[in-house]
Amino acid sequence: MTSRLTRHGMVGWYDPSVLLQSAWMLTLSNIFGRHSDSRLIEALASQPQGAFEIGGDEAGFDFVSDVGDGFNSTYAIATALAQSELTAQDAAGHTSSSRAGEVLVFGGDEVYPYPTREAYEQRTEQPYAAAFEAAGRRPRIFALPGNHDWYDSLVAFSRTFCRPARGFAGCQTQQTRSYFALRLPGNWWLLAIDLQFGAQIDEPQEKYFVDIAAQMPADAHVIVCVPSPQWIYATSYPGEPKYSDATLQRIEREILGRDVAVWLTGDLHHYKRHEAADGRQKIISGGGGAFLHPTHVPPQRELQNGYVEKAAWPDAAQSRRLHRGHWQFPWLNPRFMPLIGSVYLLSVWFAVSGFFDFDAQVCSVREFGCALTLSLRSTLTDPVNGLWLATVVGGFIFFTDTHVRWYRFVGGTLHAAMHMVAAFTLGWCGYVLAAAVLGESALWLPELVIVLACMLAFTAGGALGAWILGAYLHVSLSWFGRHSNEAFSALRIEDYKQWLRCRVRASGELEIQALGLARVPRRWRQTAAGLLADDPRATAPQLIERLVLRPRAEGGYAVHGIDMQGRRYGMSHMTRGE
Ligand SMILES: [Fe+2]
Repeated sequence: MTSRLTRHGMVGWYDPSVLLQSAWMLTLSNIFGRHSDSRLIEALASQPQGAFEIGGDEAGFDFVSDVGDGFNSTYAIATALAQSELTAQDAAGHTSSSRAGEVLVFGGDEVYPYPTREAYEQRTEQPYAAAFEAAGRRPRIFALPGNHDWYDSLVAFSRTFCRPARGFAGCQTQQTRSYFALRLPGNWWLLAIDLQFGAQIDEPQEKYFVDIAAQMPADAHVIVCVPSPQWIYATSYPGEPKYSDATLQRIEREILGRDVAVWLTGDLHHYKRHEAADGRQKIISGGGGAFLHPTHVPPQRELQNGYVEKAAWPDAAQSRRLHRGHWQFPWLNPRFMPLIGSVYLLSVWFAVSGFFDFDAQVCSVREFGCALTLSLRSTLTDPVNGLWLATVVGGFIFFTDTHVRWYRFVGGTLHAAMHMVAAFTLGWCGYVLAAAVLGESALWLPELVIVLACMLAFTAGGALGAWILGAYLHVSLSWFGRHSNEAFSALRIEDYKQWLRCRVRASGELEIQALGLARVPRRWRQTAAGLLADDPRATAPQLIERLVLRPRAEGGYAVHGIDMQGRRYGMSHMTRGE
């Protein structure tokens, strides 16, 4: 299997082909997704499926989400997950070991950028198959789809994870639907609920979980996996139905009829944990392979219902430091330059053409103000020119990330204006340069000026436009807490990868260990034992934090553990490694 490994780089989200296909997929899924999935949902729902038993006095499951991006990050996490026993150090330098779960749960976005059979195989299944083969371990695998799995209406996901006869990465799969329930020891249950693009739960799925809830004892403890952290989005985008957490509240109150002990999700590619006063948890663990998302913005120390932020990795200071890389945007996203360069070229073409459209010129085009006036006039007199300007401004307004209409309009217009001023300045410089070199009496002056100005706009404009976009993203994130996705996907950070190692015991205790790799290997060496890291700068697995939830007689959970500084808290008699 290792010889067939395809080592993809991190997805270039600003590559023109990825940008265009993303827009196309998003449009298709928004327009048709609600309808095209109904056949598949019915077909999946017709497959019998109960709750899956994970027996024994105690049992463990690993949770990893947002995998299947670049090879380095995906394989590094797969390799760590595959070890049956893993040693990790906490921030205080103490070492402890953890036992791998009998079950591995993929929490969503199992592949990037789009779900195809080849993409699942190359970006996700092959790295995991190689890692499990080398470690000689075969956990049972379950998977919940995220938004990227839904882009093809779940066709490739169903083929990959919902056919038990096929298996995944040499491991057993059992689910026949895109959602599932695990019955764990200690009266714990894990429910994975498929909320396609934040939509309502479909009827067959709702009936499935109502039936499961009816099987649970009244005092059962429930972990619910969902594809996205609606508790964060509801705070960031208040009033937006798509980002509301109403569905989560409905799951808790109407479908399950009980409080959820732990909400678990990915979608944001980092680790973040909020805790309620009664010990209930909301955890984001999306560091399975995809580019890092920031943890310092938006600042959501406190959520609704009294949940308070207890941990974030990387921490806010480190996240802020990583954010400073935006001035490198053109070099981090080199394929974006021809795209923005083309926008500059067309804009300059129209602008410089406007210099020659007026017979009775009242000023000299060598003056910047005069040239600008002539160009603006031509956007009014030439419909094609005007339409182009409107399209560019409209595109930037559409790109602006906010649900507040006036902000989107003002922010998008200002952003477009920066690019248009930059493009015009380049075009005007091209004109002045060409006129100086060629001499104003040259017969073909207007045509040559246009060609030279356009060439300058395409080459210099490609780099300048990319740099302005990077600056815009930096300012948006720093000052307004917006564009965290666009800003950090541009940085393509493959480090700070993490997953969860959970264990439930007959006593009713749930232990959660957040484990991470601060720097993933960039180089690998083929050996008889498989593909091994060959990068001295790569870091060893570290314990981000560890917490234990112990059910209290009066309801809720007593929490103790080791925090992000390596300090023990909670029960005073707890010993390290307990
Ligand atoms: Fe994701």
